[in-house]
Amino acid sequence: MPASERVPEVGLTPVTEALTHGELTVRGRIREASNAVLYCETVHEGRTLACVYKPVAGERPLWDFPDGTLAQREVAAYLVSEATGWGLVPPTVLREGPYGEGMVQLWIEAAQDGEGDGDGGADGEGAPQLLALTDVGEPAPGWKAVVEAQLEEGRSALLVHADDIRLRRLAVLDAVINNADRKGGHLLPAADGRLYGIDHGVTFHTDDKLRTLLWGWAGEPLPAESVTVLEALYAELSGALGERLRELITEDETEAVRARTGRLLRTGIHPVPSGEWPSIPWPPV
Ligand SMILES: Nc1ncnc2c1ncn2[C@@H]1O[C@H](COP(=O)(O)OP(=O)(O)O)[C@@H](O)[C@H]1O
Ligand SMILES: [Mg+2]
Repeated sequence: MPASERVPEVGLTPVTEALTHGELTVRGRIREASNAVLYCETVHEGRTLACVYKPVAGERPLWDFPDGTLAQREVAAYLVSEATGWGLVPPTVLREGPYGEGMVQLWIEAAQDGEGDGDGGADGEGAPQLLALTDVGEPAPGWKAVVEAQLEEGRSALLVHADDIRLRRLAVLDAVINNADRKGGHLLPAADGRLYGIDHGVTFHTDDKLRTLLWGWAGEPLPAESVTVLEALYAELSGALGERLRELITEDETEAVRARTGRLLRTGIHPVPSGEWPSIPWPPV
């Protein structure tokens, strides 16, 4: 039975319903993607939504993740994001499409300059700037240091990200889902001021693989809001959410999500790089 039929359709929203049952038409292919990423339209009950479709058949094999499992991981990431109430991952479903089973995700229209700016990190021109290279030293107020980068001719610069509550929530979500690829291009500021994270195919491994640009809060206490959210998430992982995840990722991987959530609650801090795995994605953007 295809995985999409095994996942119970509980909690379908109008958008996930349209993504799941709409008539899917491929309109184009996203060139720079490493997997097959197709820009599509889905029409359901007279409503048209733009979306991406990543067929399982178009997934590039990876050495450290089992073949043909990335689409399920993307849906699992959406379910965990929904359970946090932070809405950081665009609605994502598993379904059949013109190239077989795959994940289908709502297309997020990126903010134009001056739209969708967050609480912090404004660059003075109103652009929703989330990442920047600055002079080495203490980051300016509103920015958090990630890493000192070596540039050409022996010069160095400090990579910084905005001290932005939306990014901070995403950093917590990434720690829970064990995201191995949170790079700049996977941050989508939307025109409505929300920030979305995309491309969650390499997540939920049982080994610590957190690889991200969002290290600015590493070792700092988690905000009280995150603690409350993680407590509720922990309870849900022992119930209905855990059940749904087991349909998408393995039993061990599901247990590891709970263990990571429990560890975040126990330590009360944003995780620090493990040292056993490159902690910064390459290329970073
Ligand atoms: N839901 C989405 N909304 C808007 N753009 C998207 C969405 N998903 C993917 N994209 C665009 O497609 C590109 C490739 O998608 P990505 O998920 O990163 O694929 P890959 O797995 O091949 O890296 C992204 O960098 C982004 O520009
Ligand atoms: Mg990508």
